Amino acid sequence: KFVEIETSINGRQMKMKLDPRTSLLNLLREQLSLTGTKLGCNQGACGACTVFIGKERINSCLTLAAQIDGQEVTTIEGIGSEEDFHPMQAAFIEHDGFQCGYCTSGQIMSAIKVVENNRAGSDDEIQEWMSGNICRCGAYKGIVAAIKTVRD
Ligand code: FES
Repeated sequence: KFVEIETSINGRQMKMKLDPRTSLLNLLREQLSLTGTKLGCNQGACGACTVFIGKERINSCLTLAAQIDGQEVTTIEGIGSEEDFHPMQAAFIEHDGFQCGYCTSGQIMSAIKVVENNRAGSDDEIQEWMSGNICRCGAYKGIVAAIKTVRD
């Protein structure tokens, strides 16, 4: 049995029929080819799959696609482009906020919300509010520097 949903993804209205067990992460990557959002742990522990639903950041691996019915979803593809980077993307490049880059989309999505929600007061606060996003390469120093640049 399928569920029918209507949603907006990166500003594009769409209607679709889904298997109700589909995760939002799978919908984005497998069905819509929005592969900027990454699959890491698939259990809410690494943050590689972070996207926005409305104004909130969420782990798309833990969210059912059916839950975005009537909602607005934004992925890394929706915040900027190669020709026109979001300030947070530009700051990550400036401060080397990545090495392999696998976690970067999720880091950037989270970082945008940390600044928007005024949770970037100090390095400790930034680290606390970014703690749901793991970077195996250990690029944390650059990530914190990038966030402070955007904050200021
Ligand atoms: Fe979703 Fe790790 S893949 S939190």
